[in-house]
Amino acid sequence: MARILIVEDDRNTLSGLVEILLEEGYAVQGAHSAKKALKLLAKEQFDVLLTDLKMPEMSGMELYERTLTLAPELKTIVMTAYSSVKDAVEAMKRGVYEYLTKPLDLDELFVILEKALGEQSLARENIELRKQVKSTYSFQNIIGKGEAIQRIFSTITKVAKTQSTVLIRGESGTGKELVARAIHHNSPRAGKPLVEISCASFPETLLESELFGYEKGAFTGAEGTKKGRFELAEGGTIFLDEIGDTSESVQVKLLRVLQERQITRLGGTETIDVDVRVITATNRDLEKGLTEGGFREDLYYRLNVIPIVLPPLRDRREDIPLLLDYFVKKISLDNKLPAVSFADKTVEMCLAYQWPGNVRELENAVENAIVLGDGAEILPEHMPFHIGTGAASAAKLDFLKSKGRTFRDKVEFAEKLILQSAIENESGNKSKAAKVLDISLRTMRYKIKKYEL
Ligand SMILES: Nc1ncnc2c1ncn2[C@@H]1O[C@H](COP(=O)(O)OP(=O)(O)OP(=O)(O)O)[C@@H](O)[C@H]1O
Ligand SMILES: [Mg+2]
Repeated sequence: MARILIVEDDRNTLSGLVEILLEEGYAVQGAHSAKKALKLLAKEQFDVLLTDLKMPEMSGMELYERTLTLAPELKTIVMTAYSSVKDAVEAMKRGVYEYLTKPLDLDELFVILEKALGEQSLARENIELRKQVKSTYSFQNIIGKGEAIQRIFSTITKVAKTQSTVLIRGESGTGKELVARAIHHNSPRAGKPLVEISCASFPETLLESELFGYEKGAFTGAEGTKKGRFELAEGGTIFLDEIGDTSESVQVKLLRVLQERQITRLGGTETIDVDVRVITATNRDLEKGLTEGGFREDLYYRLNVIPIVLPPLRDRREDIPLLLDYFVKKISLDNKLPAVSFADKTVEMCLAYQWPGNVRELENAVENAIVLGDGAEILPEHMPFHIGTGAASAAKLDFLKSKGRTFRDKVEFAEKLILQSAIENESGNKSKAAKVLDISLRTMRYKIKKYEL
């Protein structure tokens, strides 16, 4: 029930208002002074404060300002005589929710109250969501309760304390960047910069000047001296993303930094000491690069001191419901929308799907569903279409591969699928489907009956 506190120095007006609002079904308390109101506010929780502006001793405005620390989620509506609307407008500028002129228009009062209460409950829900998003199974925004992820949490905690070079591996969208940040933020270098650079997004020579900087005149256009990312990361961490995409020449220079902790700017002669922790990541198969050429073996061993391998989402399905829940809350919160829940069918579908784009794909799918949904439960049709078809074919494959079924079961299952898809392709025309499959109409009829198609 919505709780309203009314503050009004005129006792008749006050009791009238209290009565009207009680009749409308609100939980109401009245106070004839701001002081009395403050006492009530200290004891009880209210959703809306409806207060007169002009009162002896303490004004409505002063009362409002006191509530900012006392009850920050409270919505305040001020009431004032028509002649002093200016004060009311001033109050709005200072964050009061709305103002009403006296004598009150009751219809207007109810409309504004309902609006305030609506926003109020959303605000409270958001506070609750924020708490939930923060706590459960999360480590620096990395979510997961499965054994694989939990083990990665403890690796991060341990590795963060060291200075060792880390190589993070995993398919696209598995959270490599998140892990790199978590390591930095849990390390003694947390107060120093974390410099991130994606090696794949620069052409070779540009990448070199980005990483190591350049001196004036190093190349045409180099009009002054520029520090590279290694120097910018001094005392902190550098995160070299997509390290598998670097050229031979960059690899040689990286090797040197790792061995000697020194760099030279492009076009320069001076060696500069750098105190930087190196974290790298790649979604490529570096070992393949070693045998086929393209990646230096000595660099590989230097980088791979501590490997962290992030499993693809399909190998840790136990985290899917948790991630769905997390993203629905997070995205609703970011967009100031009330949180919705997933229908069981939707969760089942997500559990069956392969998620080639891993957590990133799941996050995008949830966002899509929230936007396309109608604010109620998220149904399978609110999710991107290919997830449904992907999940269905994965379920079929599961059936065909499962150990608990007989050969005969599987053959019949496959036969049913063949018939189903042929009939679908012919828009439900069964005799046409029979022709396409080159079976007699009689056989077709028999199978339709058998499989209840
Ligand atoms: N375990 C997780 N918990 C919460 N969010 C995650 C998790 N893993 C990934 N994400 C989210 O998924 C998205 C992709 O993650 P990230 O950028 O870290 O992936 P990546 O492995 O670096 O991918 P790529 O190889 O494509 O660069 C981000 O929005 C990230 O916040
Ligand atoms: Mg990345």
